[in-house]
Amino acid sequence: MKLNHILESQQFTRPLINELFAVANQMDRVLVRGGTQDYNNKIMATLFYEPSTRTRFSFEAAMHRLGGRVISTENARDFSSGTTGESLEDTINVLNNYTDVIVLRHNEIDGSKRAAKVSHVPIINAGDGKGGQHPTQALLDLYTIYKERGSIEGLKIAFSGDLADGRTVRSLSYLLGKFERVKLYFVAPQIIQMKNDILEYLDNNEVWYDLHDDLKSVVSDVDVIYQTRIDKDRFGEKVDDYEKYTKEYYIDRNVLQRMAKHAIIMHPLPRLKEISPEVDNDPRAAYFRQARNGILVRMALLSMLF
Ligand code: CP
Repeated sequence: MKLNHILESQQFTRPLINELFAVANQMDRVLVRGGTQDYNNKIMATLFYEPSTRTRFSFEAAMHRLGGRVISTENARDFSSGTTGESLEDTINVLNNYTDVIVLRHNEIDGSKRAAKVSHVPIINAGDGKGGQHPTQALLDLYTIYKERGSIEGLKIAFSGDLADGRTVRSLSYLLGKFERVKLYFVAPQIIQMKNDILEYLDNNEVWYDLHDDLKSVVSDVDVIYQTRIDKDRFGEKVDDYEKYTKEYYIDRNVLQRMAKHAIIMHPLPRLKEISPEVDNDPRAAYFRQARNGILVRMALLSMLF
């Protein structure tokens, strides 16, 4: 199946997801042998208006491992002609002359959709705005669950932390809603609980979910805990609330003791205080394996786009 733009999770059907996982498995073998030259006639542009470590490095590494080349600006917000007031649309129009695919992280929700409207080369949404989407992260998250647990059907998955604006959680909820008998637990204080647009999507697609505010009460029931970072800015001057929630939505060895032996802990990273480093060596800590899956899924996506 040929992909065009990658803008939001909803566009991925079950057959497309199956194909992606099969190609990602092949890419693991390509990566182990050092890469391929299959795409040495292709150029990828990375256009990031927000900071990134994993998404940007894994996309750039993926392109190099496929034999392609990468062009970039260190920080599009400061070093592209956007600083002069050039519109995103004009920037994309110009880049169309130089590149075969554009990986875009933008600070506005739907920045990628704006770009795709004027682009003849594929746009990949690498995260857009607070509360937007991050579909390639969600695909690598889904691939991680599939690899770690063997299948996705019937799993119980808890999301903890900042769910209101967390674009990874929002994108992954759309994908998980495509699988049978999945149950989602959204665990957060009301101020950062999952927003209604996602809950309505889950209702419309008859996906089971519960809202909780106590992480400890759900950890022993679930197969996956997907932990996220709580954004301090969200709380303004209510710093005490932020400090309180970072202690309540926290994974340490006490949480590990309550978790099932087969369960896994995921995190899109970067983490701050929400997972204690003492958890890292437990085999259930899957977040660094999850980060490695990023390059496999992104190699697979690029090859499917080309
Ligand atoms: N998970 C993720 O998107 O990380 P970066 O912000 O480092 O790309």
